[in-house]
Amino acid sequence: METKIAREHWGSRLGFVLAAAGSAVGLGNIWKFPYITGENGGGIFVLIYLFCILLVGLPILMAEIVVGRSSQKSPVGAFIELAGEESNWKLIGFLGVLSGFVILSYYSVVAGWALNYTFMSLTNFFEGKTPDEIGAIFGELYTAGGINIFWHSIFMVMVISVVISGVKKGIEKWNRILMPFLILIFIVLAVFSIFLDGWKEAADFVFMPHASKLKPSGVLEALGHAFFTLSLGMGAMLTYGSYLEQESDIPKSSLMIGGLDTFVALLACMVMFPIIFTYGHDPQAGPGLIFQTLPIIFGEIGGGGMFLSFIFFVLIVFAALSSGVSLLEVVTSYLIDEKEWDRVKSTLVTGGIVFIFGVPSALSGSGALFPQWEHMYGKNFFDTFDYLASNWMLPLGGLFIALYVGWVMDPATRKADIQRGTSWTQNWFYKGWVILLKYIAPIAVMLIILQRVGLIDIDAIIG
Ligand code: PHE
Repeated sequence: METKIAREHWGSRLGFVLAAAGSAVGLGNIWKFPYITGENGGGIFVLIYLFCILLVGLPILMAEIVVGRSSQKSPVGAFIELAGEESNWKLIGFLGVLSGFVILSYYSVVAGWALNYTFMSLTNFFEGKTPDEIGAIFGELYTAGGINIFWHSIFMVMVISVVISGVKKGIEKWNRILMPFLILIFIVLAVFSIFLDGWKEAADFVFMPHASKLKPSGVLEALGHAFFTLSLGMGAMLTYGSYLEQESDIPKSSLMIGGLDTFVALLACMVMFPIIFTYGHDPQAGPGLIFQTLPIIFGEIGGGGMFLSFIFFVLIVFAALSSGVSLLEVVTSYLIDEKEWDRVKSTLVTGGIVFIFGVPSALSGSGALFPQWEHMYGKNFFDTFDYLASNWMLPLGGLFIALYVGWVMDPATRKADIQRGTSWTQNWFYKGWVILLKYIAPIAVMLIILQRVGLIDIDAIIG
């Protein structure tokens, strides 16, 4: 008879919280949040984002962890376990596995850019160059084929090496090192920023509500970003939840994870905007903010700037690594749980497939691959994958998880599950959570989807 290996569990609550926060804190916080805050005029956008985290993000985060912990399975197995082999709910699990492949494949390319910039900072590459020359570096990198594949493969090797060692000895161990380090250097950078002339202007921009040019569709952007930044809708948090012992405090851990993620996102703004305002650059530079604008400023600062630049890009690599690990773990654990493969084989196979999936994204800027295809759709692979994942797969996954836990799961089991292991949550907390899952989250996600497909135009309706 076959003996099943017992499921691995986290070593401690801190280990779980750091790993889940490691998943949440990533390129979303450091690369994307500051630039969409810039584009949307700061202030009110940040406030709305905080509401989205609190009212939609956190409830779905708790729902995912509940489904994971109670089934002790990764997404596909979890829905088979809870809803039955025949039910279609397991399709959400498959959607999650697919999202893992899609997101990690292009995420790794962006992380590869950060690796490249780390390397350039180390070799004093920006010093003595004109702002135009530094700004042009990103364009050259983006359109280069081979170098992108090179850094993409380095990043994938890093991710695979962590996942292959398992939950406790790989994921937990590395997050215990990377996360405190990341938070610490971020705080040091934020303190450095306080002494810059532009700090007050930056604080005012990020925290003070001014009659900004925020459009109603900016609200949906904040909401969509709440999903991405908390790693929701594709089973990453569900999978990490499945390595929890039944007696763990889900509400408390979720608040810590959401708190850390939000803290780092705000910190990222308070590191970057003071630098940007001090040197008179534009906070609305868009996606190029960290790869184009910041290196120009680091170059202007001179020798110390290179060191700052090095630390900053190392941070980004760390943050991306701990998120990448959670993305690969979703697909790896599918093979382990459902196909009963061993971890080494699963990690190598899935990591290899993700690497191959990423090659077209790495070549996207160079137009080397299927130019006709890209021409037909008006988007390259990289943009197509990013678009599909953030606008479709994650919101849809999140919607169905909210619907499942809100409407389908047996209320008595649900209540017992969320309250097991907590001593501090009251009845109002439970009721509030269910209402948010049943009504608020689904309506919010439906709005994102309708806006994305162009069936409604929020700006025209409200504006
Ligand atoms: N949350 C990560 C970030 O902010 C991205 C991510 C999405 C990771 C989905 C895992 C799952 O960068």
